[in-house]
Amino acid sequence: EKGGYDSFMEKEINEQPKAVEETLLGRTDAEGRLALDELRIDPEELKNTSKIIVLACGTAAYAGQVAKYAIEHWTRIPVEVELAHEFRYRDPIIDETTLVVSISQSGETMDTLMAVRYAKEQGARTLAICNTNGSTIPRESDAVLYLHAGPEIAVASTKAFLAMVTASYLLGLYLGQLRGQLFTGQIKDILADLHSIPSKIQSILDNADQIKDLARRMADTPSVLFLGRHVGFPVAMEGALKLKELAYIHAEGFAAGELKHGPIALIEEGQPVFVVVPSPHGRHSLHSKVVSNIQEVRARGAKTITVAEDGDDAVREFSETVFHVPETQPLLMPLLTTVPLQIFACALAAEKGYDVDQPRNLAKSVTVE
Ligand code: F6R
Repeated sequence: EKGGYDSFMEKEINEQPKAVEETLLGRTDAEGRLALDELRIDPEELKNTSKIIVLACGTAAYAGQVAKYAIEHWTRIPVEVELAHEFRYRDPIIDETTLVVSISQSGETMDTLMAVRYAKEQGARTLAICNTNGSTIPRESDAVLYLHAGPEIAVASTKAFLAMVTASYLLGLYLGQLRGQLFTGQIKDILADLHSIPSKIQSILDNADQIKDLARRMADTPSVLFLGRHVGFPVAMEGALKLKELAYIHAEGFAAGELKHGPIALIEEGQPVFVVVPSPHGRHSLHSKVVSNIQEVRARGAKTITVAEDGDDAVREFSETVFHVPETQPLLMPLLTTVPLQIFACALAAEKGYDVDQPRNLAKSVTVE
């Protein structure tokens, strides 16, 4: 049942090319335009969305943070991302032109469900991005975009995360198309890049040994920091969460720009720091700023491990280890940069002898508030 892998988590990490492919499948018409007919909200109504609020918990909330960068860029609709359990307690501003997008693998997370119910009561349109057909959150929402990633058994979410990010991109492209914000040519280009992602993930999986070796050597590490910027910021948070959940290692993700505002005080000799490096080809290149951050922590004794695009030679000099990922457009990078971090956490936990599929104190679906 584990398909020859040691754990469901390893199996699910390796199913990610397929998961992304399945999420993309059948979402375009013959002209190559986005066709999300399954959405069941009047396109006119969607077009007039004044604000999007993304609600989710844990890994799904990090997918929501990635979604914010892409959806705002492609649609010019303001996007807020909120942890579902915080949402109801702050008197949020919602009306009929607010689109509330929930993201949930299980579709049963009570915190997220209660937030969706509250949003509906306040008059918002609700759209669920969900992996589990017929689960409660999509049933109670006005519209649903299913992930089709297949069942996720391991408690820690991996393939559902990539599928959530993919589905969020589809939603962003669709809204951009509806509002005339994106031209057909642009949409085609982005979709073509999305369709090339599964084989790029596969190439990362094919080179996983380097990551697993590092994880084995780091089994005694008491703490790991993760830095990222732009869409790399939620990836850093996700990398840290995976390590906490699976390997019970204290791990923190930071926005790289925050470093000098506090976290740099944590750096001492030998402190491992993972850095998710933006593309050197980004439109507003943050690359050199993040390279400076790598130098800053390294100068203070950090052991720097970078996740960088193929051909990014600037990081090599300042990294103990570089994990390369294939090139794609900057907004799509999380679909690739997340993968080495998942492999790392899984391998490190396995090295410590922990049950990676059933980490202590956690449940796959959190049905209590
Ligand atoms: C992380 C993890 C949790 C879930 C969170 C939301 O690996 O498993 O953080 O992502 O509990 O769960 P869903 O997506 O089912 O709403």
